[in-house]
Amino acid sequence: MKPVRIGLVGCGHIVRFVHLQVLTRLSGVRLVALAEPDPERRRAAARRAPGAIAVATHEELLNIPEVEAVVICVPNALHAGVAIAALERRKHVYLEKPLAMNLDEGRAVLAAWRRAGVVGMIGFNYRFNKLYMAARHQLQAGRLGKLVMVRSVFSTATTPPGWKQFRESGGGVLLDLASHHVDLIRFLLQREVGEVFAEVQSQRSEDDSAALQLRLTDGLLVQSFFSMSAVEEDRFEVYGQAAKLTVDRHLSLDVRVTEPTLHSIRLKQIWRGLRILRHGPYLIQKLRAPGFEPSYLAAVARFAAAVRAGEHATPDLDDGYRSLATLEAAEESARFRRVVSLVTPLHAGLAP
Ligand SMILES: NC(=O)c1ccc[n+]([C@@H]2O[C@H](COP(=O)([O-])OP(=O)(O)OC[C@H]3O[C@@H](n4cnc5c(N)ncnc54)[C@H](O)[C@@H]3O)[C@@H](O)[C@H]2O)c1
Repeated sequence: MKPVRIGLVGCGHIVRFVHLQVLTRLSGVRLVALAEPDPERRRAAARRAPGAIAVATHEELLNIPEVEAVVICVPNALHAGVAIAALERRKHVYLEKPLAMNLDEGRAVLAAWRRAGVVGMIGFNYRFNKLYMAARHQLQAGRLGKLVMVRSVFSTATTPPGWKQFRESGGGVLLDLASHHVDLIRFLLQREVGEVFAEVQSQRSEDDSAALQLRLTDGLLVQSFFSMSAVEEDRFEVYGQAAKLTVDRHLSLDVRVTEPTLHSIRLKQIWRGLRILRHGPYLIQKLRAPGFEPSYLAAVARFAAAVRAGEHATPDLDDGYRSLATLEAAEESARFRRVVSLVTPLHAGLAP
């Protein structure tokens, strides 16, 4: 099998913990070049990627003919510019989330992608998490009956350094954490967001906490809380008339489906205690995974497979645009304290 020749753009925090391991561990992939302006980070990354050409900027990396695909991990404010430069050279693109800083930039990325006709994936890696895949399956099978309400929380405990502390440089909890959950809402429930009402607060850094109320296009209500100033938590609860589904990405090894009555809940607890033994292999996989999160590797593996096969792969850059549209609507809602509708061609990415 001919390996996919990848260039890694940006060698900061997440790359140190995740992407370098992913790209040097994954079979069928060869990390042929990396770009990082900070000399110390560049040297440290190069030591872990023997054989890769190390350069200072994305422009230099994109000029290396051997590079056929890029994984882009630069600060959010540079996403659109670097992605467009890569697409103009017809490189396949795996772009870390969010797609861009705003919808204007996002539309420019989509236009460049459509012109290039290459694989364009967005880094919503949690779609490849086993728990979210199982949850989607349960929801598709109608296990919960008619859905009543959805709640989600994604929060972290430590204030991130540098550019993530200011919205102007691409920081804030909406672009950082909420972008993932907004995508998961679409992925799990297979419905689009119709309306947004939001409040955004600055606790330890700018716009680091937010509460969103989303109404999906079929009327289903989703309430989400996001913070970079609270505890480590990543959780979804979907309430249906027949059962409730819970995914706790950090704490559980399986999707939990709770029946509606107390009697069945007690029986289920005993049964769960026994079943937990079955999940040993997933626990081991989690402990061994880059960043303790197997979905990072699975997402990049999907990208490489799509490049090799010359096929489309999701989540794609359109999915990135739809998530960004909801976040931009949330910012507008918070600013003017009103409900913002998303059912327009602009939000669907269809406007010129
Ligand atoms: N999918 C996830 O769960 C996840 C998690 C964390 C971060 N991310 C995303 O990864 C990206 C990077 O985040 P981070 O925390 O590592 O940030 P970071 O600031 O630590 O790293 C970014 C790196 O890019 C480098 N850089 C800047 N301009 C460059 C250029 N022109 N060419 C090459 N490199 C350049 C910077 O010097 C820096 O080392 C962000 O987009 C972030 O949203 C995704």
